[in-house]
Amino acid sequence: MKQEAMKAIAAAIDYEMLQSLQVKYLGKNGILTKELKILGQLPPHERKSRGQELNATKQFLEQAIRNQRTLLEQEDVKKVLERERVDVSLPGYGYPIGGQHILTQIVNRLIDVFHTMSYEVVVGPELETDHYNFSALNFPDEHPARDTQDTFWTTDGRLLRTHTSPVQIRYMENHKPPFKIVVPGRVFRNEAIDATHEAQFHQFEALVVDERITMGDLRGAINTMAKSLFGDRVKTKLQPSFFPFVEPGAEFSIWWENPRTGCSEWLELGGCGMVHPNVFKSVGYENVTGFAFGFGIERLALTSSGIPDIRYFHQNDVRFLKQFRGNGL
Ligand code: DAH
Repeated sequence: MKQEAMKAIAAAIDYEMLQSLQVKYLGKNGILTKELKILGQLPPHERKSRGQELNATKQFLEQAIRNQRTLLEQEDVKKVLERERVDVSLPGYGYPIGGQHILTQIVNRLIDVFHTMSYEVVVGPELETDHYNFSALNFPDEHPARDTQDTFWTTDGRLLRTHTSPVQIRYMENHKPPFKIVVPGRVFRNEAIDATHEAQFHQFEALVVDERITMGDLRGAINTMAKSLFGDRVKTKLQPSFFPFVEPGAEFSIWWENPRTGCSEWLELGGCGMVHPNVFKSVGYENVTGFAFGFGIERLALTSSGIPDIRYFHQNDVRFLKQFRGNGL
């Protein structure tokens, strides 16, 4: 019986077979169990040696079953390993690496430049009120300057901001001078869309307020920015212009060498000026002066990178985006 059981156990190729052998020999009504049960009926002199023999067989079979189970488990593991085998010598997949959008690169570059001059970076909401976008910036109701900045209105009378200048007011309401801030952000205009006009674009704004800020400080800030972007040889110029929230107001341009054409040309960038007294009045400031400027990021990117159409920026065509993996300008 022992021989036969041993053979059967060694031949068990799965857990069910092993389990049924366990039942067959060692279960409640198993062959061996039965033998043990009738031990008592044997004459006393046979009982002891028969008992020892049966117990030894029992232990032997139990051990054999355990061994076989371990063997089956090891084979299972082998099968799993085989199934999940990884061939590290196979060629891998190339995962494309993303990069920053050219506009993000330019904004980050500008922020770096102004960080070196200790400016703080501030942002504001894109959905604005008439007060912050216009009135507090000295655009009187019905003033034609509002027409130059037509935008999208919500039914409750709010609007998508037309420039980053409202953040000037929001910041001044909560801070005391002196301070220097820059404001990057998205702005909106109700434009007929073409190669140079989009309904949304980005601006970069600066505001500096202290007791004796002058136009010389304004020129210095613009010069430093221009030099950091285009090198030490650039020149800048201001031309008188009108913005309700500055007086005097100007447009500023940068004389730079276009690396694609090799020609030097004026790049008209944005507006600037000395903060209008009415703007300070609207936030309760007294005895301070300040300068501000603001310009469009897309404009800067279009010219400096030779991009022919402003609509490329938001189309997300990777063939376009891929061309600007560097550091922007
Ligand atoms: N907010 C103006 C615009 O979008 C640009 C501008 C002009 C900003 C003069 C300024 C400034 O801070 O002083 O057209």
